[in-house]
Amino acid sequence: MPDALEVSRVSIDRGGTGVVRDVSLRCPRGEVTVLLGANGAGKTTLLDGIAGVVPLRSGMVRLDGRELTGARRGIVGSKLAYVEQGRTVFAELSVIDNLRAVSADSSIMDRVLGLFPELRARLDVEVGLLSGGEQQMVVLARAICADPEIILIDEMSQGLAPVVVRRLMPIIRELADAGTAVLLVEQFANLALRVGDRAYVMYVGGVVLEAECAQLIAEPEVLRDAYLRGHRS
Ligand SMILES: Nc1ncnc2c1ncn2[C@@H]1O[C@H](COP(=O)(O)OP(=O)(O)O)[C@@H](O)[C@H]1O
Ligand SMILES: [Mg+2]
Repeated sequence: MPDALEVSRVSIDRGGTGVVRDVSLRCPRGEVTVLLGANGAGKTTLLDGIAGVVPLRSGMVRLDGRELTGARRGIVGSKLAYVEQGRTVFAELSVIDNLRAVSADSSIMDRVLGLFPELRARLDVEVGLLSGGEQQMVVLARAICADPEIILIDEMSQGLAPVVVRRLMPIIRELADAGTAVLLVEQFANLALRVGDRAYVMYVGGVVLEAECAQLIAEPEVLRDAYLRGHRS
């Protein structure tokens, strides 16, 4: 079976300059693939390119072995969910209405609420009244309601307390264990590595390191070097 997502030699321009250069990576089903790198490294731009939000200058994105060209992206769009950085929810709608806007399927809803028991108790509450952590759960829950085969998650922890991030990370793992392919961009590198399988580190637009997450936990200096100086492994 092909990997859920395969990114081959992708380059992307923004504002006339190349901000992603020749990036290749794979996201297998059942795995959390972690994408790390300093601010400005090009992580969000890469996810935008994968999701078809911005065009590729060159390279290829394959979903289930089939190339996603511009025209194709709409067709397979429902297979891929993208939790964008600085995500939004419908603050004036209740939790349940936010979720129903994505799916009316009660079995999917049950599964999602099983992942987020906190939300089950707050179904009729306006999302704008929830805590930041609960709002982020709604954002994730909405993405999962679409029943994607691959989910791209960009800095879901932004603005959240570490204790909340620690609560969210195992949910990402559960999602992968249920067979979804997850591509996780995260600033809390250590928390992400603990739920991840394989990690890629970007530096100034290129991938400078690819390793097992367990290896990077065991050898933090390898990760630090990749972040700071872009050394190739
Ligand atoms: N819309 C845009 N127009 C021009 N440059 C952009 C745009 N978005 C991002 N960039 C630039 O692209 C580079 C990569 O940004 P980004 O993909 O957001 O990195 P990251 O998510 O790793 O912080 C940065 O230098 C940023 O300034
Ligand atoms: Mg970003």
